[in-house]
Amino acid sequence: MAQRSELKFAYWVPNVSGGLVVSQIEQRTDWSYDYNVRLAQAAEKNGFDYALTQIRFTAGYGAENQHESVSFSHALLAKTTKLKVIAAILPGPWKPALAAKQLATIDYLTEGRIAVNVVSGWFKGEFDAIGEEWPEHDERYVRSEEFIRSIQGIWTQDHFSFDGKYYQFKDYTLKPKPIQKPSIEVFQGGSSRAARDMASRVSDWYFTNGNTVEEIKKQVDDIRAKAKENNHHVKIGVNAFIIARDTEQEAKAVLQDIIDQANVEAVNAFGDATREAGAASKEGEGNWAKSSFEDLVQYNDGFKTNLIGTPQQIAERIVALKNVGVDLILSGFLHFIEEVEYFGQHILPRVREIEQAAEIKDAPAPADV
Ligand SMILES: Cc1cc2nc3c(=O)[nH]c(=O)nc-3n(C[C@H](O)[C@H](O)[C@H](O)COP(=O)(O)O)c2cc1C
Repeated sequence: MAQRSELKFAYWVPNVSGGLVVSQIEQRTDWSYDYNVRLAQAAEKNGFDYALTQIRFTAGYGAENQHESVSFSHALLAKTTKLKVIAAILPGPWKPALAAKQLATIDYLTEGRIAVNVVSGWFKGEFDAIGEEWPEHDERYVRSEEFIRSIQGIWTQDHFSFDGKYYQFKDYTLKPKPIQKPSIEVFQGGSSRAARDMASRVSDWYFTNGNTVEEIKKQVDDIRAKAKENNHHVKIGVNAFIIARDTEQEAKAVLQDIIDQANVEAVNAFGDATREAGAASKEGEGNWAKSSFEDLVQYNDGFKTNLIGTPQQIAERIVALKNVGVDLILSGFLHFIEEVEYFGQHILPRVREIEQAAEIKDAPAPADV
């Protein structure tokens, strides 16, 4: 049996203020550059493969200040040596020619460590505020798919031509091309039918909100079946808010505190905004279509993944996600630097042990001589 590659780990870059939970609870996480450099360095030392920046133009849920994602990603890459940083980009404000050129240059400057997350937009108020058109839900994915096909074409072909509804290229050759081969990795966010279908056709990675193993399995099976029909392979990343403590009781108490101290007004405002996104997809499978008030306190349903408990419990649940086809865990923490270090010391070694034990168990018996 072919060996499955090791699970990958990413963390959310806190390049917006307010941390990863919409709560008044103390968060020793900071959105400054200095804090983020120390965090990125700690993360690469503690086994993280990727860091994901966020793109926000205005506050949607109390994240009052936001640093821009591409420039912030580049600045983190300048201070690290191994970590790959995924810059988030919104079609609309970004045009594919500029994004492809900008990311190819960063790829060159950082010896191949940039990646991109093409997000489709969920917050109409933000688009209105910056004077951008707001196509309806599924149409946003038509545009994103054209965006992805354009940047991938520009990065891999000479004399690239494309005649889409939103973007057109005529005999365009980008030089120099990115140094990563076959190309810069393209991630995408979203859970709706339109998001999944786009993933099954063009994206290298599909990111989804937190959920139970059973629900994640349904999504993985669905996307992989469709991708197979399209002769495409897509890897899957799942969001999780990790609360690891020495005892399960302590971890659960932290979760309860976060929820008890939720910023009710901001969570409700966020809930209203997501109705423009998740619930707006007609089949009702969008990112936040089934989110409760408690789920929305972590803005990508990260509690639902239930990586909350002791290091051993969390490691076992992480491998259970791998066993249903997940390739990457995207993690958020309350106190990022200290918890990333705790993760590297106490959780990751257990994950690797369980993964290796499974490989040995599944390996074919030696042939009789
Ligand atoms: C892991 C992840 C990261 C995302 N990052 C951003 C972001 O930085 N900025 C943004 O505007 N939307 C972001 N999104 C939102 C998605 O691009 C998409 O608009 C949203 O999930 C709604 O998708 P759906 O209704 O199609 O399921 C992210 C989504 C996920 C799952």
